[in-house]
Amino acid sequence: MSETLVNRQWFYAKPITDHLTADNFARREVPVPELRQGQALIRNRLISIDPANRLYFAIQNYRRQIELGDVMAAFAIGEVVKSTDPRFRVGDLWHGDFGWQDYAVINSYDRAEYYHRCTPGMSDEDLLGVYGITGMTAYFGVEKVGRLTGRETVVVGGATGACGAIIGQLAKIAGCRVVGFAGGPEKCAWLTGEMGFDAAVDYRAPDMAQRLAAECPDGVDFFSDAIGGAISQATIPLMKKDARWYHFGNMSEYDNMVPGETAPRHDAFLTPELKAICKERNLRPIFLLVFDFYCRRLEAQETLASYIADGRLKAPNTTLSGFEKLPAALIDGSLGSNKLGKLNVRLAG
Ligand SMILES: NC(=O)c1ccc[n+]([C@@H]2O[C@H](COP(=O)([O-])OP(=O)(O)OC[C@H]3O[C@@H](n4cnc5c(N)ncnc54)[C@H](OP(=O)(O)O)[C@@H]3O)[C@@H](O)[C@H]2O)c1
Repeated sequence: MSETLVNRQWFYAKPITDHLTADNFARREVPVPELRQGQALIRNRLISIDPANRLYFAIQNYRRQIELGDVMAAFAIGEVVKSTDPRFRVGDLWHGDFGWQDYAVINSYDRAEYYHRCTPGMSDEDLLGVYGITGMTAYFGVEKVGRLTGRETVVVGGATGACGAIIGQLAKIAGCRVVGFAGGPEKCAWLTGEMGFDAAVDYRAPDMAQRLAAECPDGVDFFSDAIGGAISQATIPLMKKDARWYHFGNMSEYDNMVPGETAPRHDAFLTPELKAICKERNLRPIFLLVFDFYCRRLEAQETLASYIADGRLKAPNTTLSGFEKLPAALIDGSLGSNKLGKLNVRLAG
């Protein structure tokens, strides 16, 4: 008789009343189900902690909204440990929405772009980061919206994060002057030291708008912004006419989005003065959803891998270890603790 595997899960247990906290989650242990035809059992190895996870409770975006009792959703890298479908080979690594649990069952009909077999020979951290959703968000944003021609000035919001750190380095590779926003002097030093940015501005400093202006004496040609709020308000007045603006998220608002309440507008930070500047200079935020570009994922992966191989690109990550760390990682990670680059939690080796 085969032994029944136990699946540890974190699930959404208590409704969010104000902000998401670790107390909204609870643990349970359930048996791993027997596979039906056309399925695979995935053992989760590395779980991605993303700011967008916080939105899953409040809105339906690229996945179904999370309801009470659901396993917390998250992208992850996992290994096929059992299969009833030849497309899923035991031992292969897969990327998918496997959730906060040890084991996930996937189906051969799961056709979402983000279920894919991973290229062998790459680290789990790189598969989830620079070759995963955040790396692709950076790559396609720089290509489609940035269209950098070199010697331009680029401002990167959220520059110490998974997307921003890659965007800034891609802009450096393109020959631009790159200024990044970071939370605190240590993170600023990391951007200019480790990541090779030309300058960094502490977004918590009271005079951050003046500091940014001093670092961008010729104006801004490309603004990469997934944060919104004060950093957008500081950057827009510096943008040149027809400057490009990649606005692919609104992280400064994510904590204000509560289930059942109307989400704040994505451009709520635009004062009448800023709207006038945008109109006069033809500044328009361009939003891309990374999954719309997933048909070109392998091509992007190849280019990013070549930059890493020749030493021009680094793929920083902060990886915590242990199933019990998941809720705190989501709460602390999004609030900007010590993490640099892509944030993950490792469950298994
Ligand atoms: N459109 C798409 O397809 C797509 C895909 C992926 C991600 N995104 C969006 O991209 C954004 C960043 O994702 P990520 O994975 O790079 O996140 P991440 O790794 O958690 O990094 C977040 C960054 O934002 C900064 N930050 C956090 N709160 C801030 C605030 N109130 N003001 C200024 N900066 C703040 C952090 O700075 P410090 O840590 O230095 O304090 C950090 O650099 C999110 O909005 C996400 O939803 C969009």
